[in-house]
Amino acid sequence: MQLTCPVCKSELTQQAKNLRCENNHSFDAAKQGYWNLLLAHKKRSKDPGDNPEMVQARREFLEQDYYQTLSERINSLALESVKDISEPHILDMGCGEGYYTARLAEALKENMGTSASITGLDISKHAVKAACKQSKTTTWLVASGADIPLPEQSLDLQLVLFSRLMPEAFSKPMKPGSTLLVAWPGERHLIELRKLIYKEIKTSHFDPVATLDEFFELSKIETVSYTFELDSSDQISTLLAMTPHSQRLPAEAKSSICQQEKLTLTLDVNLGVFTRR
Ligand SMILES: C[S@@+](CC[C@H](N)C(=O)[O-])C[C@H]1O[C@@H](n2cnc3c(N)ncnc32)[C@H](O)[C@@H]1O
Ligand SMILES: [Zn+2]
Repeated sequence: MQLTCPVCKSELTQQAKNLRCENNHSFDAAKQGYWNLLLAHKKRSKDPGDNPEMVQARREFLEQDYYQTLSERINSLALESVKDISEPHILDMGCGEGYYTARLAEALKENMGTSASITGLDISKHAVKAACKQSKTTTWLVASGADIPLPEQSLDLQLVLFSRLMPEAFSKPMKPGSTLLVAWPGERHLIELRKLIYKEIKTSHFDPVATLDEFFELSKIETVSYTFELDSSDQISTLLAMTPHSQRLPAEAKSSICQQEKLTLTLDVNLGVFTRR
């Protein structure tokens, strides 16, 4: 996939393990194989995005494949949206440690051979380092979703799974008429765990359709919903560590939840397919 210079926006040319633009801005490949295109002055913190503990917890939890059915549904919707495009360009925005990205890369290879190109982008270098181990055929980038280092109107499909929406920034690298696939938690997602944490369960006011409306039109929404069972306190603490609830929880409450030996949980996730206006 063609990458653009985060400093001057011109195209980057790769020579061995280096990327360079016509204005001589230069970026070396990290030893794990990703490109770091995040400029120091664009970072809000020294080490933005998910920290190593969150990345590790997500990795440990996801590799047990409780979310496999969800990942398969994401792949079906993704494949459906690019099936008539000969060399589709795909971006997984906020890819984290690459579980969904790598599984989509595999599904694309099976269904389309090597014609599709897929890029995973995350602002957390810890996440991207872990992602490099998941797929060798994916281009992995440390970069900001607020300033995506891809040419304007170059993408056929962008996925945003459980990540913050930045509608205008996300629309820039997408072709008009291309697909944005968004995943966000439904009302009952992990409700059993949330009931253990909070006295009162708040209703979410997150409305992707309204948030995205200026740049994206909704084509369809579907919900993936099923239950799964964790049957050890280790699995329960790993799931807790991967959720945003964990950081808000006093140590005492955390340890009492983690002492449980069994927990049946609901996965309830909305998948929205949007078209770039
Ligand atoms: C909840 S995680 C989801 C990760 C992955 N999509 C998944 O579902 O497993 C959100 C991710 O967004 C990343 N993130 C946060 N702010 C970002 C930004 N401005 N640009 C790119 N990624 C960002 C975090 O580092 C984190 O990996
Ligand atoms: Zn440049």
